[in-house]
Amino acid sequence: MRISVINQKGGVGKSTTTANLAVVLASDFKKRVLVIDWDGQANVSAFLGLSPSPAWSNTNLILDPSSGFHPERDVLVPGLDVVPGASDFALVERQLLGDLLSGPRRLRRAIEPVYNQYDVILTDCGPTLGMLAINAVAACPDILVPIELAHAALLGAMTLQKFLADAQSSLEPAIRTMGVLPTFHDDREKTPREILGDLVKLFGPTLFKTAIHSAANVRDAGGQGRPVVLTEPHSRGAEEYRALAKEVLTRG
Ligand SMILES: Nc1ncnc2c1ncn2[C@@H]1O[C@H](COP(=O)(O)OP(=O)(O)OP(=O)(O)O)[C@@H](O)[C@H]1O
Ligand SMILES: [Mg+2]
Repeated sequence: MRISVINQKGGVGKSTTTANLAVVLASDFKKRVLVIDWDGQANVSAFLGLSPSPAWSNTNLILDPSSGFHPERDVLVPGLDVVPGASDFALVERQLLGDLLSGPRRLRRAIEPVYNQYDVILTDCGPTLGMLAINAVAACPDILVPIELAHAALLGAMTLQKFLADAQSSLEPAIRTMGVLPTFHDDREKTPREILGDLVKLFGPTLFKTAIHSAANVRDAGGQGRPVVLTEPHSRGAEEYRALAKEVLTRG
């Protein structure tokens, strides 16, 4: 399974979801997992406790194929490899834009040789729908969309569906929305409950049954470089990410 975690809206929980899901898939479900940090902010690398200046990075993966494939191995748990983010990744998009013939497929080409080394590849996208996002969905066509249960969420969701439909028809037929994940849920508040109802109507069975609640320990764990599934494995957030992992595997 090759998953792009994508939503052009910032701060909806893409990197937090990627980090927790990756750890759970490797540790609880014994999958061979690769995380690709595909965002200049390098948040998912930080959430997984990695250094901000790796020896080999996402930038090397894309711009320097002769450098080989040297992800960080067994990050936090056995079976979880990570292509870490580097600060110069911000320069990659411009290079891809200059490559008219194969620009959209550069990530796919770079990781195709290692596809069979992993059961699940998770690409954590940044909050844009440019050339980097196009590369992500071409390489990882199973689309996971975290959506924050807040008012502006639905407008952006429609734009994203349009982007995915275009990419599917002109770039990669395998692109499909494998699941929409409600995030920042709060049962006690009216707005998230209403928006969750809208998402059910809009996405039907594509919506995951699991929703991730807002929780301080989910946020704080990210800051400490250890996802909540490791810092507090019995908390509600950890249970939710394990339930999500189960759903993801059944949709593979
Ligand atoms: N369930 C949650 N409860 C509370 N805080 C959360 C939760 N999930 C994520 N956060 C926090 O919200 C912020 C945004 O989350 P995250 O970085 O995962 O979003 P993102 O979509 O990857 O953002 P960006 O678009 O900038 O890449 C972070 O500070 C994170 O710790
Ligand atoms: Mg992020």
